Amino acid sequence: MRAFKQVTSANMTSTKRNILVTSALPYANGSIHLGHLVEYIQTDIWVRYQKMQGHSCTYVCADDAHGTPIMLNAQKLGITPETLIANTDKEHRADFADFAVAFDNYYSTHSQENRELAEKIYLRNRDKGLIQKKTIEQFYDPEKEMFLPDRFIKGECPRCGTTDQYGDNCENCGATYAATDLKNPYSVVSGAKPELKPSEHYFFDLPAQQAMLENWTQDGRLQTGIANKLQEWFKTGLMAWDISRDAPYFGFEIPEAPGKFFYVWFDAPIGYLASFKNLCAKRDDLDFEAYWSSDSSHEVYHFIGKDIVNHHTLFWPAMLDGADMRKPTAVFVHGYLTVNGHKMSKSRGTFINARTYLKHLNPEYLRYYYAAKLGNGIEDLDLNLEDFAQRVNSDVVGKVVNIASRCAGFIKKKFAGKLAATLDDQDLYQAFINAADTIATHYEQREFSTAIREIMALADQANQYIDAKKPWVLAKEEGKDDEVQAACSMGINLFRILVLYLKPVLPKLAGDAEAFLNIEPMSWHDIDSPLLDHTINKFKPLMTRVEMDKVNAMIEDSKESLAETSKHKGQPPKAEQSASDTIAAQIEYDDFAKVDLRIARIVKAEHVEGADKLLQLTLDIGNETRNVFAGIKSAYAPEDLEGKLTVMVANLKPRKMRFGISEGMVLAAGPGGKDLFVLSPDEGAQPGMRVK
Ligand code: 2FM
Ligand code: ZN
Repeated sequence: MRAFKQVTSANMTSTKRNILVTSALPYANGSIHLGHLVEYIQTDIWVRYQKMQGHSCTYVCADDAHGTPIMLNAQKLGITPETLIANTDKEHRADFADFAVAFDNYYSTHSQENRELAEKIYLRNRDKGLIQKKTIEQFYDPEKEMFLPDRFIKGECPRCGTTDQYGDNCENCGATYAATDLKNPYSVVSGAKPELKPSEHYFFDLPAQQAMLENWTQDGRLQTGIANKLQEWFKTGLMAWDISRDAPYFGFEIPEAPGKFFYVWFDAPIGYLASFKNLCAKRDDLDFEAYWSSDSSHEVYHFIGKDIVNHHTLFWPAMLDGADMRKPTAVFVHGYLTVNGHKMSKSRGTFINARTYLKHLNPEYLRYYYAAKLGNGIEDLDLNLEDFAQRVNSDVVGKVVNIASRCAGFIKKKFAGKLAATLDDQDLYQAFINAADTIATHYEQREFSTAIREIMALADQANQYIDAKKPWVLAKEEGKDDEVQAACSMGINLFRILVLYLKPVLPKLAGDAEAFLNIEPMSWHDIDSPLLDHTINKFKPLMTRVEMDKVNAMIEDSKESLAETSKHKGQPPKAEQSASDTIAAQIEYDDFAKVDLRIARIVKAEHVEGADKLLQLTLDIGNETRNVFAGIKSAYAPEDLEGKLTVMVANLKPRKMRFGISEGMVLAAGPGGKDLFVLSPDEGAQPGMRVK
């Protein structure tokens, strides 16, 4: 009997690692949807892989429980914020558990540990002189007696006069403006007319940490695209970060600052620490300080989406550094989810909540499909529902599960479940084992799609082996029993390795397969020992095919009808209204000719600190560049836009906005929200050309 050896390359050291992993904390104010799940499934696969390697890998998360929207939503529901967050906590935990996202601890930012840690981190930074006070002016609701974030102010668009527009852009005509430009502004909370009122805020001195951050972000720990983006921000210089909000606010009061609360984004990442600390109190093998002291050699990784890069690669390391704590080993950024090539949409039924999915489909289908499409970059991931069904059916059901179902029956019936004592094709088995190291490296590097490709190539080989042996033919022939047992035992052993390789992705299927194979839970190092002379259990189907009917039923279930939308929001269903249900009144050609439309290239697109809807665009229009604030953040990430051609109104009077001067307007179509499409001329058009 040949001994099977795993080839272990230098990068797969056998030293036990101590790893702490987080996913972004979901707001305690809404349901988990398939977009969120890209991140939780990605992280969970990586963590399960590390655990299978025998490393100490701890995965923590929590609900992000503070802030104005949660406070106001609770009021609207007539419950306390504590009740709201307790309800959401229950819902989130159930959703994650049902998708097999296995946190070692799931906690809340509204916890004693988080309060203490937030105070400690704040005070250490303050004592180093990194916190400054500054008085700023903000809209204030005199009835509700509270300051209002922009998203809680509405009014008439200063350009087209549409009513009920938010404080920074118009969903009808796309104009962008400051909340102070709205005509007849009113507070969404009380309906009262907001007043500008000064208030003292606490600012974190980010500029003082710029040199440290330039080093930390540019030393190879971040994905290249992210590091380059940050480099651009450094060039323009960092700004102090407003970390306080005035009472009433649902959060933690700042020490020695009565009536001032930590802004939700200050204590949110500290929630990672709080969740971990809460776990350390329950587990003897985990020591908080060993992970978080400034000289820690343990590893800490944050998985996040590309919308919150600045919080995790600027604010967060700066806060930790100022508090004399260690900074993350790396931050892993992923892209957004699209469904059938579009942003998730309620009207199309592709804004799918975790619970709605679970009502119709097996969660492991989605885990497999995401894994099959995920690389380690920041590109968006498209869930194409036809492809999803086809891929799961052909790979998992058709290739992997099929091997076991083709072999198990003969072993059970003819040999009382007993596998042969030797392997029929040792070279093939060795080839399967030889792939272990490559597959492990792909998992380690978050190149899951490549890992899946390798595994499926092996599954093809296993099926070819069985096709060639034809146990179903041998079984009918006299005196061929040994050959039947040899072929089917070989098939079952190959199946076992495939399941082991897929275990981080398909933990439920792997668990059921382990029960069928009558073995202990597999770890990565179990590869070397094949199942010989071993009795297996009766085979039960491990996964059924994805049925398109169920996919379609899920879509139907996710469609918000017009009536429902308006019922939810207590107002006309905006997202469903076309911007131009009716064509506007006719104009003379001369009116049209007054508008100077130009081809522009978006040379730079950036987030605007403090603006919910705006992106800042630098537009090249041939002989000059323009700075334009566009209300398109709900539909585009800056990196989606850079390099694109678009059309701009070049002769719109420059307008002063809260964030700077906007020198024109870009054209976009669509009802708003995620369904907003920046007009893009064919390549060949040149910046500066007049549009006629
Ligand atoms: O963007 C969000 O959904 C935030 N709740 C993420 C917080 S992650 C961390 F910093 F807490
Ligand atoms: Zn308007």
